[in-house]
Parts: sequence; structure tokens; C-alpha cells
Amino acid sequence: MPPAPARVPRHVAVIMDGNGRWAERRRRPRAVGHRAGARAVNLCIDFCLGKGVEALTLFAFSSENWGRPDEEVGALMKLFMNALEREVEELHRRGVRVRFIGERERFSEAIGARMDAAEVLTAGNTRLHLTIAASYGGRWDIARAARSLAEDVRAGRLDPAAIDEAMLGARMALADLPPPDLFIRTGGELRISNFLLWQLAYTELWFTDTLWPDVDAATLQRAFDDYAGRERRFGLTGAQVAAPSGTTE
Ligand code: IPE
Ligand code: IPE
Ligand code: MG
Repeated sequence: MPPAPARVPRHVAVIMDGNGRWAERRRRPRAVGHRAGARAVNLCIDFCLGKGVEALTLFAFSSENWGRPDEEVGALMKLFMNALEREVEELHRRGVRVRFIGERERFSEAIGARMDAAEVLTAGNTRLHLTIAASYGGRWDIARAARSLAEDVRAGRLDPAAIDEAMLGARMALADLPPPDLFIRTGGELRISNFLLWQLAYTELWFTDTLWPDVDAATLQRAFDDYAGRERRFGLTGAQVAAPSGTTE
């Protein structure tokens, strides 16, 4: 039998971690690391476009990151604003659909307006679905979905007995995309840090010590190669996965 073609993940989710340490190692302010990290974002988008990945979700700023020193939060906000001003046109030209998930109300009006505009401009693009998680938390996402169901119950539109996983899932972020196949976290920490708690249920996890600003195509290729060799069982047995037609018991 010829070897199976390399499996490419349809949806990749990334925790871009390690910007601060990258700068501290160079005795530079942490904001310098965030700027260097922005370059790696472009590289990662290019890599996914080249591989034919359908969806890329990037964790840019967590619900908890608002608690960082004012100076760092301020630098990050400036960086978001610059990126929204500079990068969106080019992404649009390349057929990328850009969307944001997270508590948008916490951003300034100017940033919120830019986010809205980027979503409107790129809404018709289909080459890559790029989602930026900003002011996002997995717990926030679940709570918001639960609140939306509760509102329907209160309005008499929904019987609580009818609530199931699919119904809750349909009200969570990214519901219109396949769930992430591959999760990548740079920066050496082995945790989820309140990223996509619901959506990562059966995602393949991949971690590297490489700091986000140092990520290059070779780093991402290692993650993709590792993913291609994984056996995804979704709770079934290896034999069942090998013979999906139901020929095994
Ligand atoms: C990730 O890098 C970017 C954000 C959280 C905004 P960090 O800023 O967390 O970098 P480290 O983990 O401190 O090195
Ligand atoms: C997760 O990184 C959030 C982003 C990369 C945006 P953190 O640096 O905030 O995570 P912890 O604090 O190490 O868990
Ligand atoms: Mg960090």
C-alpha cells in the first residue's frame, strides 16, 4: 500500500507564549518581546496558508492578562491598534477571514471599532478562517453560552430538558468551525491557561520550549509532523479506528 498522505490539521489553535521572557533575556522591556511576537504571528499565518489549513485560532490576550501592570497592558493595546491598522488590508487581499472572540466591550471604542471593521471587510473570505482570541477566557465563553440558554428558558422558548452538549456547543465561540485538531503552546508551560476549554476536548496537544518570537517554519513543521503521526481514537479502541466500517466489535 502506498503511504497515506500526510494529515494536515484542519484547525490549529495556538497559545503564543514567551514574549516577555524573550525580551527579559535580552534585558529589554517586555513590550519589545510583544513586538517581536507580532512578527511570529505573520509567519504562523503564512505557514498555515501554505499548508492549506482551514482555520487558525490565536490566543493573543486572556481575560486574566488585564491584571498585568498598566504599562504592559497599554503597550499591548497600542500593538493591537497598530496591527489592526497595518495588517488587515493585507490579510483581506490574501483571502483571510478575520474574526475576534472574547469580551470586546473591555477594549477601547477605537479598538472595538477596528475589530468590527476588520470582520466586516473580510467576512466573505474563505481561504483561511483566522480567529484572534482577545480578552478571551474559556470560562467566560462557557458562562456566556449558559447565560444565553437561560435567557431562552426564561422567555419560554426552551425546555431545560432539551439542553444537551450540542445545544451548549452551538452557543460557544468557534461553533461554526470544526473543533481544533492541533493545539500548540510555545514558551514551555504545560497548561491551557483558560484558552478554549470546551473546544479542546479531543484536540491533539503539542508543547515546545521555544519562545513565541523565536518560532519559525521549522518549529511549526515539527508540530505538524507530530500531529500527522498521532492516532486519534475519540474514546474508541485502536482496532475500531483502524477499521471504521464497523467490521470489528
Ligand atoms: C504571551 O507572552 C503574550 C501575552 C500573554 C499577551 P507573555 O507576555 O506571557 O510572555 P512570558 O510568558 O511572560 O514570557
Ligand atoms: C496565556 O499566556 C495567554 C496568552 C498567550 C495570550 P499567559 O502567559 O497569560 O499564561 P500563564 O499565566 O503562564 O498561565
Ligand atoms: Mg506567558
